[in-house]
Amino acid sequence: MNKIIIASFLLFAACKTTKTTTSSSSTKTTETKTEEANDGLSSKDVEMQSKVEKVKSKFENYSLAEFKEGKTLYETKCNTCHSLKNPTSYSEEKWTAIVPKMVSMSNKKYSTSIINASDEEKMKRYLITMSIK
Ligand code: HEC
Repeated sequence: MNKIIIASFLLFAACKTTKTTTSSSSTKTTETKTEEANDGLSSKDVEMQSKVEKVKSKFENYSLAEFKEGKTLYETKCNTCHSLKNPTSYSEEKWTAIVPKMVSMSNKKYSTSIINASDEEKMKRYLITMSIK
């Protein structure tokens, strides 16, 4: 009888230990993923991620993080002379032609806050990604 009680206690203790280990390691995994993506994945992120997937063959190493950077740049750099244009209103060809023109206009006007080539590319990629159906 005593043996059975000891055995079931040990079994219980073993289960408990396993459970604790599993849950702490899964928390770690979630934390790492969150850091990598720079944000938790909301439903909006999932939608943006699927857009990013569509253009991955076009833009080498494209990521949700870079897409978001492009979005922020667009929303802060492109509304100083006119309101923001709807990214879906122009085609890939149009954005490829318009972005460099607008960047050079912007750099002429605001020589203190020059848009560099890397930021220009991020904005262009964001706008093209948005324009693809
Ligand atoms: C220095 C002021 C200025 C800034 C900054 C600026 N724009 Fe413009 N944008 C203009 C002017 C002026 C026009 C209208 C004349 C033209 O099309 O050249 C225009 C027109 C546009 C058009 C319509 C073009 C067409 O052919 O219908 C788009 C799209 C556009 N801008 C996008 C952007 C984007 C993207 C950025 C950020 C990279 C930006 N603009 C920043 C001044 C600016």
